[in-house]
Amino acid sequence: MCGIFGYIGKLDADSFLIEGLKNLEYRGYDSAGVAIVDNGKINVVKRAGKVSELKSELLKNKLAGTLGIAHTRWATHGLPTELNAHPHTDIDKKVTLVHNGIIENYLELKKEYNLKVISEADTEVIAALLAKINGKDNLEKLKKTCELLKGSYALAVIFSNEPNIIYLAKKESPLMVGESQDKILISSDANAFRKYCKNFYILKNNEFAKISDKKIEFFNKNKKINKQTNKFLNTFNFQNKNKYLMQDEILQTPDAIRETAQFFENFKDIKNYFKNIDKIYLVACGTAYHSCLFGKKYLDFLNVPIFAEIASEFKYSKPLITKNTLCIFVSQSGETADTISCVKKCKCKTLAITNVPNSSITFACKKTILMKAGWERAVASTKAYSCQLLIFYLLKCLLKEEKPKTKTLVSDAKKYLKTLNIKALALKALSYEKIMFIGRQGDYITAKESALKLKEISYINCIACPSGELKHGTLALVDEKTLVILISTQKSLKVKNDLTKKEIEARGGTCLIASPEEGADIKFPSLSRDLMPIISILPFQALACEVSILKGYNPDKPRNLSKSVTVE
Ligand code: AGP
Repeated sequence: MCGIFGYIGKLDADSFLIEGLKNLEYRGYDSAGVAIVDNGKINVVKRAGKVSELKSELLKNKLAGTLGIAHTRWATHGLPTELNAHPHTDIDKKVTLVHNGIIENYLELKKEYNLKVISEADTEVIAALLAKINGKDNLEKLKKTCELLKGSYALAVIFSNEPNIIYLAKKESPLMVGESQDKILISSDANAFRKYCKNFYILKNNEFAKISDKKIEFFNKNKKINKQTNKFLNTFNFQNKNKYLMQDEILQTPDAIRETAQFFENFKDIKNYFKNIDKIYLVACGTAYHSCLFGKKYLDFLNVPIFAEIASEFKYSKPLITKNTLCIFVSQSGETADTISCVKKCKCKTLAITNVPNSSITFACKKTILMKAGWERAVASTKAYSCQLLIFYLLKCLLKEEKPKTKTLVSDAKKYLKTLNIKALALKALSYEKIMFIGRQGDYITAKESALKLKEISYINCIACPSGELKHGTLALVDEKTLVILISTQKSLKVKNDLTKKEIEARGGTCLIASPEEGADIKFPSLSRDLMPIISILPFQALACEVSILKGYNPDKPRNLSKSVTVE
């Protein structure tokens, strides 16, 4: 949610900033802007719309200068207009800054300090406050301002009286600094500068940085501090071949599975962490929550109570936590605010399952299992979901001391994706007004995830329902304008599912069966019960993507959503 990028080097900053923003566009893409310092003068250009709008403007009217900050926004306070876009400045242009996060008390601060602002954005209040606050130098002013802010922030700031320096501040919103021989790069996601830097620094909460072309200095509230650099983990070179990232990311699932399974070998000690636990809470949002629903099924042999919880609800519940409770937090990005806020209330064993090393959730939890799905940038989570299920399956095998039966999983997935042709189904789906995904047991979870995918990128009104529950109310929705996709992977449930199909057809609805059986409308490969959900989601991810494209949308950047939801 919102991306920050910064550059200090020897070459013009504009192309680095645009490249950085393009890499960060998955975090927000409704407006963008840059501030570049040219001979001591700070020039700001902002545009509503995607980063490409800003890029065109900078191609027409180039900004010179070798130091700059940039931002791609996902609107929280105020419409996605040019006025509300970052960078923001105070009225006298003493301070120019970009911000990720939310300032909860911005209206109180505005009133208390009588701040003059012209936009609706909470960020402008920070700039106005920073320009007004007294301090012996800019660092002290920044520290004093941050003490007054309630909420979350990653800030990159340029002061007009010190235009060769970028100051940083961080609380609850990620911020990293990368260093190479001839340049320093700043970003809210280290992947955005990975191409240029081998090492990078991660700011922790309440830390600050002062960066010039000569040095990087770090501070906490009281003093200057030394920080260790971090190295990027080696990652497999995931190929991009298609027009849209989501198409690529679905096709990368087999490689992501292989990489994740191999990397899991590093986390075998986690077995000890499961000793003497009295219960498990699995907490996450959206797609990651659906993987928790499967997690509960994979781990149910442990014979302890297991609860799968939606993070934004769990936060307000009263979980029965003891020192022997294990809370597992699943998050592809590792930055989801709803999920991270739950970690704080769990004074017990905490384990993160995430795709992003050094993400906020890895610092919040006592233990971490990393997936290796590769960078997932399309807003709709795909390959990471399959890897989350795989981790739960591998955990099951580890705890049961069984050998994982994954020998042919990667080749099965590859083969399956090669033969999968979803276009006809996508065209058919478009001719219906309503779409339902139904299933029993694990297939109902796949139905939920399939419905979420279709909703979020094709904007089709679509729901998931347990097959057996249909007749208790939802069947009323079924008519000739309804397409029902019945997911049926378990032989033992076939008879019941066939009855459900008849119920739907008797009401004029169309019911397609998705199953490993010959003659199925949507055919799955034959896989064990444990491995099936890792693969059975693939046709529905592909369906959502295809429908979105057929409707003329960009599946990577759906309206109203952002990849990494860093606000609660
Ligand atoms: C996935 O397609 C969604 N865009 C969304 O539900 C996502 O899974 C959710 O916001 C959680 O994200 P996380 O895994 O990064 O925590």
